[in-house]
Amino acid sequence: MSRIAYVNGRYMPHREAAVHVEDRGYQFSDGVYEVVLIRHGKMVDEAPHLVRLERSLGELQIKTPMSNAALRQVMAEVVRRNRITGNGLIYMQVTRGVAKRDHAFPANPQTSVVMTAKRLPEPSRTGVEDGVKAITIPDIRWERCDIKTVGLLASVLGKQQAREAGAYEALQVDSEGFVTEGTSSNAWIVTADGDLVTRRANNAILNGITRLTVLKLAERAGIRFVERPFTVEEAKGAREAFVTSATSLVKPVTQIDDTVIANGKAGGLSLQLFDAYLDYMTTDEARA
Ligand SMILES: Cc1ncc(COP(=O)(O)O)c(C=O)c1O
Repeated sequence: MSRIAYVNGRYMPHREAAVHVEDRGYQFSDGVYEVVLIRHGKMVDEAPHLVRLERSLGELQIKTPMSNAALRQVMAEVVRRNRITGNGLIYMQVTRGVAKRDHAFPANPQTSVVMTAKRLPEPSRTGVEDGVKAITIPDIRWERCDIKTVGLLASVLGKQQAREAGAYEALQVDSEGFVTEGTSSNAWIVTADGDLVTRRANNAILNGITRLTVLKLAERAGIRFVERPFTVEEAKGAREAFVTSATSLVKPVTQIDDTVIANGKAGGLSLQLFDAYLDYMTTDEARA
């Protein structure tokens, strides 16, 4: 079945979907994006994703392309036209549009919106229990990592480095030795005392929607958590480590660089949160 993409008001075959060469997203990374997970054909946490999109656009002074209600309609239509009734994701990119190349904003920008969707396999606990390897790399990004911009070059290079090292993710480390986040995920540990730790969301990281939901689920489950930075050494000596994102869900990390975490298997709290997140995805709350 052929995939359908949405490009500025039109639904078209994926292979024909294109934007102009002078789209500012293409020339300057002057745009933002969202990745929204689809579970059983329904968007997961659509509302907070749209809140974050609006915030990203606001920080870059890009005009919102349409109301949230209209965006939701387009998203639903993209899911419908791609016949995604199981798991999948929507990729949405919003840029400052097409204009004659000039770094400063154009006088009358026409915000551009592109959406694609694809199917994903059913999440399975089997793969999760083995965990994945992560490497550590210096965080070379800019100071506005809170904006979900399409300027992803540092993440591209970091993920490639991970790939070449046979690792799933690269954990980025700031100049003081603290882990900021993965190249496309937020980073968490469980300390020897059983505290769940993740970095506080400020301009150094993207405030993941999965991160926010996992914090909420942890709180409801009575798990003690603290939002603070942690070093690479602390992570390597932790009882558990994992990363979260819309596509990784809750992904246990069982090796960081050459250090095996605890007994090399996914930890109990990581699996508890994975299960809780899986349950959460099909609730009315996730579909609001
Ligand atoms: C740098 C970075 N941090 C964190 C995340 C996780 O965000 P979310 O949970 O909203 O997918 C992503 C997702 O792409 C990311 O790119």
